[in-house]
Amino acid sequence: MAEDWSARQYLKFEDERTRPPRDLLAQVPLAAPRCVFDLGCGPGNSTELLIERYPQAEVVGLDSSPDMLRQARARLPGRAFLAADLAHWRPHERTDLLFANAVFQWVPDHPAVLQRLLEALPAGGVLAVQMPDNTAEPALALMREMAASGPWATGLAQAAAARDDLPTPAAYYDLLRPLCTHLDVWHTVYNHVMAGPEAIVEWFRGSALRPFLAPLDDDMRRGFAAAYGERIAQAYPPRCDGKVLLRFPRLFIVAVR
Ligand SMILES: C[S@@+](CC[C@H](N)C(=O)[O-])C[C@H]1O[C@@H](n2cnc3c(N)ncnc32)[C@H](O)[C@@H]1O
Repeated sequence: MAEDWSARQYLKFEDERTRPPRDLLAQVPLAAPRCVFDLGCGPGNSTELLIERYPQAEVVGLDSSPDMLRQARARLPGRAFLAADLAHWRPHERTDLLFANAVFQWVPDHPAVLQRLLEALPAGGVLAVQMPDNTAEPALALMREMAASGPWATGLAQAAAARDDLPTPAAYYDLLRPLCTHLDVWHTVYNHVMAGPEAIVEWFRGSALRPFLAPLDDDMRRGFAAAYGERIAQAYPPRCDGKVLLRFPRLFIVAVR
């Protein structure tokens, strides 16, 4: 990605963001992998889970964002972190687990990249992937809708292209099954309890809103975020305690070579 990620913004909702990688890791059928890569390791929250589960393994975090890598190195000193782009990177032959939580939705033509990575694993090696499958949710649909009109429309002509809808589970199955001995594809829908609609805006400032805010100047960015906040407040009404529920479907894949 052209612009850097912000580790600080991403970690505002660390508990919620770390639950899917916990759920993904729970389904990885490996007792003692030699080398584990955390692809798109971000600020190291998912890397920390991998180190806890596999204390004997060589665990390496990989990311393309300097800010995320800085944060990950500060969080887990003495651990290896690698700057690389998943579009081109290949694992070495001792790699038994490729773990990728919330990254492949950002990688262009990711199905082909998943195939290539799975092919590179030794027999019994595991590719474990989680991606948000939320492009049809109001929070993301509203970003696209708002970007299409209003004073920012010209600046945001390309923004919606940053995230495609995910292929169906059946499409992933047909794509990966010929390369696997075992394949599990499933969805989990989380309902994150958020303090209010403004918390939803903050959540997405750390992820899906980034391609919409980054191209705008300060005034335009403030205007877009304020208008988005108003639409979010309508789409996510308060529950009985004043909080709002952020419905969040996610797709999981565990593929054993
Ligand atoms: C949403 S964060 C996920 C962080 C962490 N894995 C977690 O479980 O919360 C996505 C990360 O993927 C990284 N990323 C995006 N595109 C990438 C690419 N092409 N190659 C490597 N990393 C990438 C971003 O820099 C960001 O740190």
